Parts: sequence; C-alpha cells; structure tokens
Amino acid sequence: MEINILNSSKENVQDAESLKQLEYIDKVKEKVDTLSAELGRKLTACVVTFGCQMNARDSEKLLAILKLAGYEETESEDADFVIYNTCTVRDNADQRVLGRLGQCSAFKKKNPNMKIAICGCMMQEQSAVEKIQKSYRFVDLIFGTHNIYKFAELLNTTLDSDRMIIDIWKETDKIVEDLPVMRKYPFKSGVNIMFGCNNFCTYCIVPYVRGRERSRSPRDIIRECEKLAADGVKEVMLLGQNVNSYGLDFKDDDPNKISFAKLLEMVCEVEGIERVRFMTPHPKDFSDELLDVIASNPKIARHIHLPLQAGNNEILRRMNRKYTREAYLELVDKIRTRLPEVAITTDIIVGFPGEDRAAVEETIDVVKKAHFDNAFTFIYSKRTGTPAASFEDQVPEDVVKENFDALLKVVQDSAKDQASKLQGRVENVLVEGVNEHDSSLLTGRMSNNTLVHFPGDESLIGQFAEVSLDECHGFYYLGKLVND
Ligand code: 5AD
Ligand code: SF4
Repeated sequence: MEINILNSSKENVQDAESLKQLEYIDKVKEKVDTLSAELGRKLTACVVTFGCQMNARDSEKLLAILKLAGYEETESEDADFVIYNTCTVRDNADQRVLGRLGQCSAFKKKNPNMKIAICGCMMQEQSAVEKIQKSYRFVDLIFGTHNIYKFAELLNTTLDSDRMIIDIWKETDKIVEDLPVMRKYPFKSGVNIMFGCNNFCTYCIVPYVRGRERSRSPRDIIRECEKLAADGVKEVMLLGQNVNSYGLDFKDDDPNKISFAKLLEMVCEVEGIERVRFMTPHPKDFSDELLDVIASNPKIARHIHLPLQAGNNEILRRMNRKYTREAYLELVDKIRTRLPEVAITTDIIVGFPGEDRAAVEETIDVVKKAHFDNAFTFIYSKRTGTPAASFEDQVPEDVVKENFDALLKVVQDSAKDQASKLQGRVENVLVEGVNEHDSSLLTGRMSNNTLVHFPGDESLIGQFAEVSLDECHGFYYLGKLVND
C-alpha cells in the first residue's frame, strides 16, 4: 500500500515556518544528490524511536523530511544518517539510547560520510546534553523537543559542518505542525492536539522537558484530520500528555476555547474518519461532558486509558495526583455504568518513595476492584530535578522487585478475566496487518483495543471487518471473518 507524504508540496502548506522548512529540504536534497552521485549509491537514513506515541508521531515527520531529501529508509543503524528520537520518562530509556549510540560510533568509523543526530525529551535535560558533548563526541547534531520543526534547517547546517551542532530551546509558545509526515500505517494516524503538561506529578520529568500546556487550535486539528481522511486514514488517535486540559490555555474570549469533549465531537464529524481514540486523560478532570460525548458517539473507541499510578491515598498525595483511591474507583464505576462495553487500562508505578507492602496491597485492591482490562506497570525511576528525587524514603530495589511481581500477577489475572468476557461475540475490527508469527493470519484491533487474529486476505488490511471471537488466548483472540 502506498503512503503519501502529506504536506510535502508548497501548495498544500499555509504556515510560513513550514514553507521555510520545505525550502531547506530542497537545499538538503541538493547535497544528498551530490554525495550520492559521488558515491555511486543511494544514501540511507535510519530513525530510531523511543517512548510514547507523541515521539512516534514526531519520528514520522523526521522520516518524511529525510525521504524528501533523498535518503532511502533503512532499519539498520549502519546508515549514512541515523537519528535517535529519545525519551527520558524513565532512566532505562536513557541507558538504552546511550548503549545504542555507543554501538553506532563503530559504523561511523567505517563510513566517513555518516552523520549521527539525537533529539527528543532526553535532550531537554542539560545533564544529558553535557554527557553527549563530553563522552559521545562523534555525534553531529543535537536538538530538543521545542524546535523539532526546524529539523530540515538543522540537517542542512549539519551536512555543511564538521562540528557538533547543538540547538536546544528551554521553552516555546510556537506550534508548527504542518510539516511533511510519512505515516507508519496508511490507515491510522496520531494527531497532536496539545503539548506539555501543567500537572507536575512529583515523579515525572515531562513538565520539565515538554514545558507548559499549549493547545493547537481546533481549526488546525480538524484541518489535519480532514487531510488525513482524504489520504485514506480511517482511525485517528488524539494525542496529548493530559488531553482533558485541552483548550484551558486559551483566553476566555478566544473562540478557540472549546472543551476536549467538544473537540472530540468535532473530530467525529470529519467525513472518512471512522474511529477516534485519545490518549491520555487525567482521572482528576475526567468530565461528565466527556462521558456523554463518548456515550453518544459510536465512532469513539470503547477504550479509556486512565492512569492510576498508585492505590494508596498517602502515596497519591505525595505524587501530587490530586485524587484519592475512592474518587478513582468512583470514576471507574461511573464509566462502567455509563459505558458497559468500554475497556479501561491504566499505568501503575511501583516503588515510589515511602511505598511499603501495605500500600502496594492497596494498589492491588484497586486493580481488583477496577477490573482493569490491562495495565502498564513501571518500576519507579528517580528523575533528577523532580521533587520525588529528593524524598528521603526511597525504596530498596529488592523490595520494589518483590512488590512489582506481586502486582504484575494480579494485573495479568485481571486482564485475562476481562478478555475472556468477550468470548463468542462478533466485533468490528480495523485490520492492521499480517500476523507477525503466522503469515496465514491477519491481525485486527477492536474498538476496545483488544487484538484478534483470523484467517483472511491481505487486501483487507486497512479495512474494517466483522470477526467472531472464537478462542481467547489470554490477551488476544483467535477468530473468523463473519460475512454480513
Ligand atoms: N518512574 C516510573 N514511571 C514513570 N512514569 C512517569 N514518570 C515515571 C517515573 N519517574 C510512568 C507513569 C506515566 C507513564 C507514561 O510513565 O505511569 O503514566
Ligand atoms: Fe507526567 Fe503527571 Fe503530566 Fe502525566 S500528568 S505527563 S504523569 S506530570
């Protein structure tokens, strides 16, 4: 299936900054073409992505720019241009990047034309940048999250220079989104609706590296959804660190000031968009209006990701989550009563400072009561600069590990239990591709985010299909196409 690079021609782009970047792409292309002619081969580029869906979406833009500039995409880091789009939410992501970067220097020794770039959240931390400047001298380009839209311009400078180029902004009030983008999937896409976070949960580095909340105008978001729909996209996922704060940063008399619920409703009206997801709402401001809109809009996926983080009130208070376990469970109850078919998933952190076994048992209790359909469980990672990093009662590693295992077991039981309830149903799924392990099967995703594998023809990829859920295998189903 061909995927077009959206926003690649000057006729389609209105924003002046985006137009400027398209001109830089032309300049880069000249350089790439010259070098390619000298070497007698195509130049290759590899984009390596860590972290969340917003990073994945950013990487689709980086790749589009590289492709328009004449690079051929490759999965291998033995390439002429390699860029790492980093995450810094937990320390293990940092370590993985540095490990990969170290290995990459061997490729550069063999290929004198190779350029290595690193961008994303980790680069918004001064200490990380200093480390790269000191110990990874072979890196050619470093930039952050706020100026990622300048990638073409920075790439152009990098190709002209032998020095390390560093361009990091502490903050920005600018949103430039009309950039070329090469989607991973022809039929689905993320759409950024807001950037940053104002919540300052005490463990979290995001507000420091992504800055304050900035919403895109509803007009721009709808226009992007329309462009995507015209290009064959059937499902969009609205992305933001805290989507139910959407629009709160607009002034009261600004006509752009609409609620997230209203925005969702508007996105559902875009012709061609048949399924709408969103990520991530904060439990503290999940409104009744949002529930009403979901209930009355079948296009909105029956899946709500609602990060719990912890089930003990004192830990929640010290995390600055601004809700109690009781309030959280009440919200889950309200959602399940209003939307019985909805799947609720969550994020949980184990090992936050001061968390003892009794507190973990309270988290386990919430997992059981909420009947989560799935949960991402994370070991607490101390992030320098966050308030929790200086809390004195950090939990020893062996205790964390034991608590983590206990929680994981309950989470898995809950997920299996919930999945088994779907047995025998017929569900409308978006066919996403050929099964990774068995090429005779296709994989489809239900509205509630559960996967089902079934025999079928590849021509169905990107289409909606009715599939029976015959055999539950823990988290996924095996099924059959049902002809209506
Ligand atoms: N340590 C562990 N997990 C974290 N998360 C955010 N910060 C940390 C941290 N310091 C988790 C939260 C959040 C998810 C995206 O990452 O659970 O919801
Ligand atoms: Fe981090 Fe909390 Fe903001 Fe989520 S809501 S990005 S956990 S500070």
